[in-house]
Formats: sequence, structure tokens, C-alpha cells
Amino acid sequence: MAGHDHPLFTLVYRAVSGAGERTGLGELRERALAHATGRLLILGLGPGHDLDHLPDEVTSVVGIEPSASMRTSAESRVAATRARGIDVEVVDAVGEALPIPDDSIDSVLLAYVLCTVEDVDAALAEVRRVLRPGGVVCVMEHVRAPEGTWLRRSQRLVAPVWPRMAGGCHADRDTRAALARAGFDVAGLRDITITSLPPVAPTLVGTAR
Ligand SMILES: C[S@@+](CC[C@H](N)C(=O)[O-])C[C@H]1O[C@@H](n2cnc3c(N)ncnc32)[C@H](O)[C@@H]1O
Repeated sequence: MAGHDHPLFTLVYRAVSGAGERTGLGELRERALAHATGRLLILGLGPGHDLDHLPDEVTSVVGIEPSASMRTSAESRVAATRARGIDVEVVDAVGEALPIPDDSIDSVLLAYVLCTVEDVDAALAEVRRVLRPGGVVCVMEHVRAPEGTWLRRSQRLVAPVWPRMAGGCHADRDTRAALARAGFDVAGLRDITITSLPPVAPTLVGTAR
């Protein structure tokens, strides 16, 4: 979609997330996806690393991705997932307006995407609309650090330039509060710190229902 393609960021993110697969990010993706089942919606498919960590209970995937260069970078993983017998549909759309029927999704993956969507509340309202009653939201998002910490200070320091450097990403969103505001039970979410760039180290992982 116009305005969502950042080819340089795609190149950098693809390299960084590819390296991360071998240094802990892959394990984190597996942990986040552990409770995914049935038809899985991946919001912000990116280069598609999550496809390499789908549990057997996932039967089909719809990946929402508004960036053409990201869709291209995901092509080989999409093809490999289809070859494993899992249907994957990649859709050029945004989380704020999902072209998906109500109650038609069994599980949703939010991985490093709520930092980037323009309207978090609108995207989460859409997630609620398409998720069937009893469905699960798998979460793996970098989030705002607690006030008074050096991680929070690092986020404040980079805030003026970070979105321009990182494809529209905001390093300091309170994603737990946004999920709660959208009506999700957030008791299954845990705060962890992953060893990476300080502004994106504080991470929320687990499930919301
Ligand atoms: C940092 S990448 C993360 C990709 C992937 N989920 C992962 O964990 O590696 C964020 C992705 O969200 C996409 N994106 C940006 N705005 C979006 C929106 N409004 N709705 C859905 N996806 C969006 C970007 O194009 C990008 O591919």
C-alpha cells in the first residue's frame, strides 16, 4: 500500500531478524506462537520468520503486509510453508482495516507490529472483530520500559529519530495497556528484557484472550 514501503528498512530488518533467528529471536517466536491454532492471522508478516515456527495445530495462515518489499522478502518462507501443506494467503492491507470476515480467525500473532501501526486502538478493534470467541492472541512486542529506568531514558533519547530510522516504528508504546483497553485479558503476558538494542529491549511476550 502506498506510503508503507520502506525498501532500505526492509533490507536492514531482514538481515537483523535473520541473524536474530540464531541468537534467541527464533526461540522467542516459538514461545509466542506456542498456543496458536487453526487459521492464524499474522499482522505485519514482514520477512515471514514466524512461518518457520508454526506449531502443528496451525492449519492455515493469512499474513497482512502493506509493504511490497516486505512481501517480496517473505516469498521464500511463504513457499516453504505452502510446501509443508499449510495454506498461506498474503494480503496487501493494514491492521486498521482488515479485509477479513467477523469471527473467522482462530488465533492472531502480533510480533513487532503494534510498534508500527498508525492507530493501535483501531488495529486491536479489528483483531477483536475477526477473532472468534475463545480465540487467542499471541504476543511478542517490544514495549515502553518502566519509568525511571535507563532503558526508558534510552527510548526518550531516540524517540525523535527512531520512526524515521526504523520504518515508522515507535520504541515506547504501552502495548499491555492498549490490549487491556481493547478488552483483552492480559494476565497471560510477561515482561522480559531481550539482549539487543536498548530502546527495543523491553519485550512483552505471551498470550492475550
Ligand atoms: C518490524 S516488522 C515485523 C515483521 C514480523 N511480524 C516480525 O516479527 O519479524 C513490522 C511489519 O509491520 C508492517 N506494517 C506497518 N504498518 C502496518 C499496519 N498498519 N498494519 C499491518 N502491518 C503493518 C510493516 O510493513 C512491517 O513488515
